[in-house]
Order: sequence, then structure tokens, then C-alpha cells
Amino acid sequence: MFLPVGNYPDIQEKLRQELDSCFGSTDDDIDHSKIVSNRYLDACVKESMRLIAPVPAIAKKLQDDTEIGDHTFPKELTAEIYLFFMHRDPKIYPDPLKYKPERFLEDQTKLPFSFLPFSAGPRNCIGQRFALFEIKIFIALLVHKFEFASKVKVEDAKYCFEIVTRSTHPLEIKFTERR
Ligand code: HEM
Repeated sequence: MFLPVGNYPDIQEKLRQELDSCFGSTDDDIDHSKIVSNRYLDACVKESMRLIAPVPAIAKKLQDDTEIGDHTFPKELTAEIYLFFMHRDPKIYPDPLKYKPERFLEDQTKLPFSFLPFSAGPRNCIGQRFALFEIKIFIALLVHKFEFASKVKVEDAKYCFEIVTRSTHPLEIKFTERR
């Protein structure tokens, strides 16, 4: 999230304005429930996970012969599902390389299963609520305390797929304490 939001000062400022209202007079005085229900923060986190899917792919072994469109995939086949590329499909997300949190403020009921950072179905991520809570609190604390800028342009970043998605090069993010 620091890579894309560090590229767009306007988005970062909008996020900061919403988050500042969740803090009291000290940095420890935080309204956690207000933070996690902040719509713009939620949209920024989701858009970051869309553009850079943290888990690039999942694999499932088919239990039965399965028909999808004109194709029949045989039982026992291991299907690899590339969440990373699905999230960048222009048919689902127009202008897919653009970081646009507004996508997640608009109607999201268009296509079910089009946003799957935590997978879906019976073997989906059991830690997703905890992960989102932790990410949002961490981001909120840093956005409240610092301004940050990414040296790497989001469109120039290159990724490699391990179990999780990693940048091939170090991502340099400069943090400046707010006055
Ligand atoms: C940003 C953070 C996270 C992401 C993007 C993520 C994503 C995923 C994905 C895509 C799967 C499905 C894997 C597959 O089908 O092969 C998964 C499964 C799982 N995740 Fe997460 N996860 C995250 C954080 C966490 C955390 C914090 C925990 C535990 C506290 C957790 C526990 C699990 C477990 C136990 C499974 C296996 C569930 C099963 O097979 O029934 N995850 N996660």
C-alpha cells in the first residue's frame, strides 16, 4: 500500500483527512472501530490488494470433471488460478494498471468473485478479518504520523511470484514526520 499511496499525494491527503478524525489528542487515543469502518481507507486497502495481489495464485485439484464454457477440465487436474492477473483483467477493471480507490466506493455487486485477495469458498483465508484489521490500524497510525513518498513509480514496479508477491527491487519509501 505504501508503494501506490506513496505515488499519489492527493489520495494520501484524502486518506489522511478522513483518518485524522479517528484520533484524539494523543497518538494512543485512537477510535479503532471508527478506523476500520472508514470507507476511503477500506477502498485504498482493497485497491492496493487488487493492483498487487498479496497471494499471486492459488491451486486447486478438481474433484470432478468440470465444464467451463466450451471446455471440459478432467478430474484430478490441478488448476492454477492467477489472482494477480485476474485483478488486472481490463474486462473486469477498466484501466487496470491505474491505482483508483474509487473503484471500491462504487457498486461492487457487478461481478461476484472478481476480487479474491483472500480466495473464496470453503478454503478461503480464515485470517482475513484479522489481517484487514491489522493492516488498517497500522496504515492509519503511519498516515496520521508521517507523510510518505515512494521513489519507485507504481507503474515501473516489477514483481516476482513466490508464495506471496514480492517486488524484484527494493522499494524505497521516504517517511517525513508531520508537524
Ligand atoms: C494480507 C494478508 C493475507 C492474505 C492476502 C491471505 C490470503 C490467503 C489466501 C489467498 C488463501 C487461500 C490459499 C489457497 O487456497 O491456496 C489463504 C488461506 C489461509 N489463510 Fe490467509 N491471508 C492473509 C493473512 C492471513 C492471516 C493473518 C492468517 C492467520 C491469522 C491467515 C490464515 C490462513 C489459513 C489458515 C489459510 C488456509 C485455510 C484453509 O485452507 O482452509 N491468513 N489466505
